[in-house]
Amino acid sequence: MLNHRFVARLKSDFPFVASLGSRAYSIVRSGANKRIVKNATRPAFTGTIIDVMSGQVVPQNEVLKKLDTGHILLAKDFLNNTGLTKDFASVMSGAYGIPYEDLNRIHELLTIDQILDVTEKLKMDERILGLECSIFYGLFGYSPELYAELMPNLRPQVPYKTVRGKEQEIEARVGRGKMNAHGPHKDSWRFHPSNTINVWLALSDVTPLNGMMLVPHSTDYLPKFADNEIVPGCDTYPERQYLTQMSTGDVLLFRAELMHGSILNQTEQTRFAFSMRCTVEEPDFHRDFMYNYVRIAPSFSNLTKVKVAARSSFEPASRDESFADFGPQERPLRDNSREENGELIVNTPEGEKTFCARCPHQGVPLRDGRLENGRIVCSQHQLRVEPISR
Ligand code: FES
Ligand SMILES: [Fe+2]
Repeated sequence: MLNHRFVARLKSDFPFVASLGSRAYSIVRSGANKRIVKNATRPAFTGTIIDVMSGQVVPQNEVLKKLDTGHILLAKDFLNNTGLTKDFASVMSGAYGIPYEDLNRIHELLTIDQILDVTEKLKMDERILGLECSIFYGLFGYSPELYAELMPNLRPQVPYKTVRGKEQEIEARVGRGKMNAHGPHKDSWRFHPSNTINVWLALSDVTPLNGMMLVPHSTDYLPKFADNEIVPGCDTYPERQYLTQMSTGDVLLFRAELMHGSILNQTEQTRFAFSMRCTVEEPDFHRDFMYNYVRIAPSFSNLTKVKVAARSSFEPASRDESFADFGPQERPLRDNSREENGELIVNTPEGEKTFCARCPHQGVPLRDGRLENGRIVCSQHQLRVEPISR
């Protein structure tokens, strides 16, 4: 199995080789891709889709328009409504050897190594890839064209305290964001097509302390990025963020060019998500890399010709510190604090409080965060940091 750090280096340092490799991979997969799509079921989702910011119900014929204009949508109880729960339960519990209902405490039942081993194999299992296609049919089966990236991710984010100190090792093995947190980003920073739709299925309950943050309507914000994450200090607009609140079986839909990132898991439960990507028109591939996209409607195509001949020039820009449409965000913490000897002294409504100046997670300056109930919420992965007690 390929080391993810090696693949990441290949993409950034030798894009030509990465580009050829990604084309070759999706061509080699042609037969398997075709079989998977042929065997997928075509359920219809008849439940409710809501706009998470307004709470309003979104009729099916407005879903794509809403997504295009930067809204974030939630398909409630998707798995039960489409009858896919049973299939998921059987594949997941068979692979991990634990009851489906116990995925949120998988860290108590299996070792980290066991979880990683099973997850890496399972995410490319043909049954999982078939379920992925079924989900796309259920959500967007009405679209005249539909394309699936047959490289989904299973993301068992175990409680942070169980992986503290091991994050780098885990990341080298399976990549960022699978079992550890991924800071604010857009998917094109990781070479995904510019017109990708993200489909994020909750396989456990998700809260603002273990899920994701997303900034609606941020598609045209082009902040500086490095190593696939926003450069600390660029605005992340906490006052505009949506923090996930989902029940098992709900699906979140959003354009992958919205700013989004994971929240370090500060609960006692594993947050388990199945995340996948699709497009409703031919993928606008990144200049340097193609994922394993195929057309699944109106008919199957492996897109082999498109991939062999692709000459995309798309590459995301990295240039701003704030978004002209939103304006610079207020920074009350910066204005009400001072740094002394590696400490941040903050004037809070309850008087002066002292914090470490840098986040204990990955060292991002805490003055860029925000205050919440006497604690600082770090801007990068939202760790809640307590004041230093003396
Ligand atoms: S939460 Fe990760 S750097 Fe602060
Ligand atoms: Fe992402």
